[in-house]
Amino acid sequence: MKLFFNPASPFVRKVRMVAEERGIADQIELVKVTITPVSPDDSVSSSNPIGKIPSLQLDDGMSLFDSRVICDYLDSVGSADSLIPSGKSRWTDMRLQAIADAMCDAGILIRYEGFVRPEEYRWDEWSNNQWLKIVRSIDALEADADNLSQDVTVGNIALSCALAYLDFRYDDRSWRSGRDKLSIWFKTFSDRDSFRNTAP
Ligand code: BEZ
Repeated sequence: MKLFFNPASPFVRKVRMVAEERGIADQIELVKVTITPVSPDDSVSSSNPIGKIPSLQLDDGMSLFDSRVICDYLDSVGSADSLIPSGKSRWTDMRLQAIADAMCDAGILIRYEGFVRPEEYRWDEWSNNQWLKIVRSIDALEADADNLSQDVTVGNIALSCALAYLDFRYDDRSWRSGRDKLSIWFKTFSDRDSFRNTAP
């Protein structure tokens, strides 16, 4: 398998953590690409019409995307325990992944607005409203933090990647302030090799 990746992407980190936790990271060849909405990369676009990373090319040539599909696929490879809970917990975990992914989407859009869009076209109100999505999400997660587990699930992995992306790109915005429970959850959950081995 070949994973088109960039270490800065939290979505890439999520799928790489899943591969690490399932013990199949050594089956994946990493191909580094640098892509923005205005600078696609033909090596990705030729097999993935959306042209985004992560994109996983299987040995039979089929390309899988987006990160949720790749995580599902990697969860089906090998014999390690599934990272996707069953029963009602499945929906709680998928919901958590959806919140985490949406935080990443918003964070990446702010990043593109500030660093890719020409200065004369930037729209602060738009970026500020993306940030509000992140604030609402981390406030909701803090309020519900007693229900967060330390289980190694795709949802928890996604959340750790989203919070790490806030540290990576928005350290000055101090997401931990007033969110003690979520901060403690993150400190404990991120103390693992799969997190350390996938740092940007
Ligand atoms: C970043 O530099 O923040 C970034 C790079 C690639 C994908 C997503 C985010």
